[in-house]
Amino acid sequence: MYTQTNADSRQNLGPGAEPYQWQEKYTSSGPRKWLILGSVIGLLALIGIGVGVGVAVSHHSKSSSNISTNNPSASPANPTVVSQTNPNDPSTFVKDARLKQSFWGMAYTPEGSLLPNCGSTLPDVIQDIQLISQLTTRLRLYGSDCNQSALVLEAIKQTKVNMTVWLGNYALPNDGGVAYARQRDAIVQAIKTYGTDQIGGITVGNEFMLNYLTAAGATTPNGPVGNQGAQLLIANITDTVNTLKSLNLPKHIPVGNSDAGAYFNNLVLGAVEYGMANVHPWFGNVSIANAATWTYDFFETTDVQAAQALTNKPTMYIAETGWPSNSSDAGNMSNGPSTASLANLQLFLDSYVCQANQNGTGYFYFEAFDEVWKDQMYGGVEGHWGLFNTDKSFKNITIPTC
Ligand SMILES: *[C@@H]1O[C@H](CO)[C@@H](O)[C@H](O)[C@H]1NC(C)=O
Ligand SMILES: *[C@@H]1O[C@H](CO)[C@@H](O)[C@H](O)[C@H]1NC(C)=O
Ligand SMILES: *[C@@H]1O[C@H](CO)[C@@H](O)[C@H](O)[C@H]1NC(C)=O
Ligand SMILES: *[C@@H]1O[C@H](CO)[C@@H](O)[C@H](O)[C@H]1NC(C)=O
Ligand SMILES: *[C@@H]1O[C@H](CO)[C@@H](O)[C@H](O)[C@H]1NC(C)=O
Ligand SMILES: *[C@@H]1O[C@H](CO)[C@@H](O)[C@H](O)[C@H]1NC(C)=O
Ligand SMILES: *[C@@H]1O[C@H](CO)[C@@H](O)[C@H](O)[C@H]1NC(C)=O
Ligand SMILES: *[C@@H]1O[C@H](CO)[C@@H](O)[C@H](O)[C@H]1NC(C)=O
Ligand SMILES: *[C@@H]1O[C@H](CO)[C@@H](O)[C@H](O)[C@H]1NC(C)=O
Repeated sequence: MYTQTNADSRQNLGPGAEPYQWQEKYTSSGPRKWLILGSVIGLLALIGIGVGVGVAVSHHSKSSSNISTNNPSASPANPTVVSQTNPNDPSTFVKDARLKQSFWGMAYTPEGSLLPNCGSTLPDVIQDIQLISQLTTRLRLYGSDCNQSALVLEAIKQTKVNMTVWLGNYALPNDGGVAYARQRDAIVQAIKTYGTDQIGGITVGNEFMLNYLTAAGATTPNGPVGNQGAQLLIANITDTVNTLKSLNLPKHIPVGNSDAGAYFNNLVLGAVEYGMANVHPWFGNVSIANAATWTYDFFETTDVQAAQALTNKPTMYIAETGWPSNSSDAGNMSNGPSTASLANLQLFLDSYVCQANQNGTGYFYFEAFDEVWKDQMYGGVEGHWGLFNTDKSFKNITIPTC
């Protein structure tokens, strides 16, 4: 019921990061909200989840041991899920008739993108891209640690698929800018190696305002505490804009940010070309029957309208939306009227995907693969949002044809 963080945020908690106590807070007066104060166990950081008035937030990624390899002849963990007519040419992968390019975009973090362990492998990222490219032409990453930007761009190159990537910089407010600078430099290196053709944008900050406000015990993104946090994030956004300018790139790369749907600060939105909002009906306590419409309404009234009211009118996307297919314990199966099940995942796909495309919503579906580490760490529905199981086998669902 909470969402957590994930590797995404944990992975960027540098050694100087401040540990917090885990804390879960439910406020029933006023806007309902689940908050999880981030904590960190060791170097793991935490994440917050705001759910409620309509916000739910969540994001996730994967972790694994530090057996990083870029050896192209190595095998992915489960070699059976994709076959290639030429074993040495990843672009010759055989299409799976059950997969359709129906999704506007997909949220993705390669397994093993969590510091300090890292461990993602090029063969596995190539296989992920072979699968995801059959579902969408757009991908967003959350951060740039553990070489993930280069691995994904290399995988796109080798598979020769049509894929645009929004790279991510999971900047932290409390580390003196160490995580920010490390990822900025990794992004610059990836741009120098792979060019700009495949890059749709650079997202600076993920749930930065949610985490900042939560750590300060505040809830209002446009209040004084929110405006303080905004100045920190804007410094990093401005630095990325200036860094890109200094590279004299052949193509303009937009710089944006991503946050919980109810946690956008207007000063931050005024400094970006796009915003990505997490909008989760399951965490928002919405029944599957109302999920698609609720997602649309929440995003339009909270995020799109706020952006349109500003002079720079940043483009707004949904950073994450989806539905869990199961819970690891019966007690967390339902969040009020929202119930995790394979049947409800199918209903969400049937009621949301093509309709949102038609409505012109730019959304990154959450998510491609179930994540075992998240299940182990958090239980409940956390490890069960994928279209594929953790071994990358396809769940018993039907992708809608749009
Ligand atoms: C894991 O590998 C990364 C490089 O991919 C390295 O920066 C990190 O220090 C390694 N971690 C451990 C625990 O060996
Ligand atoms: C690649 O995908 C984009 C949408 O992301 C689409 O506009 C473009 O036509 C596609 N290109 C090809 C060659 O299919
Ligand atoms: C990052 O990945 C790219 C693409 O696989 C590879 O060429 C490069 O050596 C990797 N860098 C590190 C530090 O692992
Ligand atoms: C990035 O932001 C952090 C605070 O969130 C700040 O300490 C650091 O100086 C900033 N770095 C740059 C280059 O803007
Ligand atoms: C599409 O837009 C209509 C309003 O024009 C809304 O009622 C509906 O819920 C939207 N559907 C989705 C999936 O966004
Ligand atoms: C859902 O999770 C429970 C608990 O882990 C498990 O027993 C059950 O088999 C799972 N159901 C499906 C359809 O995977
Ligand atoms: C939900 O999952 C969490 C984490 O596994 C667990 O601590 C909690 O007891 C569960 N809640 C219920 C109502 O079962
Ligand atoms: C969801 O709604 C139900 C009532 O429909 C309520 O009992 C439950 O506490 C709510 N959960 C959250 C997280 O708001
Ligand atoms: C897959 O789901 C369908 C119903 O949607 C069901 O008839 C079928 O038995 C399921 N297959 C498996 C292997 O669970």
